[in-house]
Amino acid sequence: MPEGSQVQSMFSGIAPRYDLLNHVLSLGLDFYWWRRMAKASGAAPGLRMLDVAAGTGDSSLALARQGAEVISTDFTLAMLALGPAKFHRKGLAHRVWASLGADAQCLPFADQSFDGVAICYGIRNVEQRPRAFAEFLRVLRPGGRLTILEFSRPRWAWLRGLYDFYSLKILSRIGGWISGDARAYTYLPESIRTFPDQTALAAELGSAGFSDVVWTNLTGGIVALHVGEKAR
Ligand SMILES: C[S@@+](CC[C@H](N)C(=O)[O-])C[C@H]1O[C@@H](n2cnc3c(N)ncnc32)[C@H](O)[C@@H]1O
Repeated sequence: MPEGSQVQSMFSGIAPRYDLLNHVLSLGLDFYWWRRMAKASGAAPGLRMLDVAAGTGDSSLALARQGAEVISTDFTLAMLALGPAKFHRKGLAHRVWASLGADAQCLPFADQSFDGVAICYGIRNVEQRPRAFAEFLRVLRPGGRLTILEFSRPRWAWLRGLYDFYSLKILSRIGGWISGDARAYTYLPESIRTFPDQTALAAELGSAGFSDVVWTNLTGGIVALHVGEKAR
């Protein structure tokens, strides 16, 4: 696991090409996965959501499209800085705001200040997950929901084989080529392989104090959605 400063420098380097690479490398599935995340999060008019590790803000936009008010934050300013222009272009700048850079492990928000917290493709990069989970619980109101969208373990051996081939041989090359940072797109498949699978992540959330933890596989488990609640 690289240190936080290495993660920041990696994302600062790829920020200008990040959106394009997301859409190309996921073969357009990224929008579907964000939509499913936003639905699972329960985002709705009148609710205030925090999108942690929000990057360039597409995950925040998905939450705002559901009618929620969204604070979009990330500890890499070069990523976060690309959000506001996009929020304006999409006509959602009245519902989604980029906030000063925040580390998931030390959030600059008051206790119980959000109805929901979401983190998409970010928790895999966090050095100390238990610290981040404790922060998510702290800023959630009782009954509030945490939603995690993250790469996971494909369900079937044939899909795992296909996905390994794609991520190790194709994704890393195209990613390195378009972003100019081959290391960043070698790190991506490696970090996915060392990240807890669906069951292990659900167990971590339970140990951290979340209740009613459930998960759903998307696209055969290439990506998984975990949801947990803060007890009332
Ligand atoms: C793969 S991007 C995901 C961005 C966005 N959520 C999306 O769905 O496209 C991961 C983001 O996590 C951020 N990140 C990694 N570790 C973090 C931490 N400890 N605190 C806050 N942000 C973090 C990185 O800066 C990066 O912008």
